[in-house]
Amino acid sequence: CPEASLGQEPVPDQPTILVLNGPNLNLLGRREPEHYGSETLAEIEARCAKVAAKHGFKLDFRQSNHEGEIVDWIQETAAAGLILNAGAYTHTSVAILDALRLRDMPVIEVHLSNIYSREPFRHHSHISPAATGIICGLGGHGYELAIAALARLIRDGS
Ligand code: DQA
Repeated sequence: CPEASLGQEPVPDQPTILVLNGPNLNLLGRREPEHYGSETLAEIEARCAKVAAKHGFKLDFRQSNHEGEIVDWIQETAAAGLILNAGAYTHTSVAILDALRLRDMPVIEVHLSNIYSREPFRHHSHISPAATGIICGLGGHGYELAIAALARLIRDGS
């Protein structure tokens, strides 16, 4: 909707926040709504774009069902900060952890659901040791909070 983005066009020298979403998150809205809510990934992206613009950041928002593609994106990004919902790879991927350790940008790990109130295999995250902070259980709002947190971390270092 062009009207919705009026006044929020990115300014060229604005730093970028990269948001990476892992497998099956493309199906948000119809995937297990009791865990993930009814909002689609596109709706979350639109809200994130507004919040990022408010904080003076460009938003690069992506989703992949492929672990190696997520690793490539982490290796290659020039973003100032990263928000990562690695989906099920959270609980399995040493490769994503290793990629995060190659980089020194702030990373906020986000999960829509409260992974600690779910099955035991979701209680362990391979990502968390490389994350600056973790937000879970707040649905799509967690992404917006993560942008606000990154904006502070990038600007003030805290
Ligand atoms: C998730 C939680 C993971 O356990 C799950 O595999 C997902 C989504 C979340 O956002 O709550 O795909 O990361």
